Amino acid sequence: MPGSNIGFPKHVAIIMDGNGRWAKQRGQLRAIGHKAGLKTVRRIVRFASQKGITALTLYAFSSENWNRPKTEVSALMALFGYALNREVRILHKNNIKLQIIGDVSRFSHQLQKCLKIAEDLTCDNTGLVLNIAANYGGRWDIVNAGKQVMKQINQGEITLEQLDESHFSRYLSLSELPAIDLVIRTGGEYRISNFLLWQIAYAEFYFTDILWPDFDEKVFMQAIDVFQSRERRFGSIKE
Ligand code: IPE
Ligand code: IPE
Ligand code: MG
Repeated sequence: MPGSNIGFPKHVAIIMDGNGRWAKQRGQLRAIGHKAGLKTVRRIVRFASQKGITALTLYAFSSENWNRPKTEVSALMALFGYALNREVRILHKNNIKLQIIGDVSRFSHQLQKCLKIAEDLTCDNTGLVLNIAANYGGRWDIVNAGKQVMKQINQGEITLEQLDESHFSRYLSLSELPAIDLVIRTGGEYRISNFLLWQIAYAEFYFTDILWPDFDEKVFMQAIDVFQSRERRFGSIKE
């Protein structure tokens, strides 16, 4: 049976899209959609943690999302800070380790402080690793890794000949975690929108029209079922 040897995904990444349209359908402001989206985040994190998934990586704010109207960006930043303050103790109680990926230097000092406190508090937890991608871009991630590797070469710590994929990938986000098995995108678009690029080289994809605020455990399980029915070949052939 194809794919019957695939177990549960260890690492799931989600492009949480469709908050704005969800709100518009209800004649409400986009910010209301983001608030509703936060509720879904809570449910999905709990579910992933209960199911014993090793890592969950959520795309919360892309490096291009700064191009949105100022009011929406501010609403998102405020919600981010609010959620952090409110949820971090619950995450900690549930043994969840929170990590932020992305260029946080562009956030306000106050938000950066909140992020640091949340990461420090949960850093020794051994349950689900929850990565929030904030001011994240896949291209940024690769250039950032490239810069660090260049520094090493310039300082003579490694030679150009020694540089290979495995060495380079150490400097990318999520390098300490299992490879991404499954990428889910809600909201009906079929694109990556500069989310993880390098890290999804052999991930399986699941796209759904469901808008993020309507995403729930049942749809998550559906995505996992579909994942388990796939045949992953990694460039090889199935005997
Ligand atoms: C995703 O929902 C959340 C963020 C990008 C922060 P959107 O805000 O992109 O919602 P749509 O795609 O406009 O419906
Ligand atoms: C991707 O959604 C970013 C997040 C979910 C955070 P966008 O709504 O920004 O993507 P595009 O603009 O439709 O490609
Ligand atoms: Mg969108």
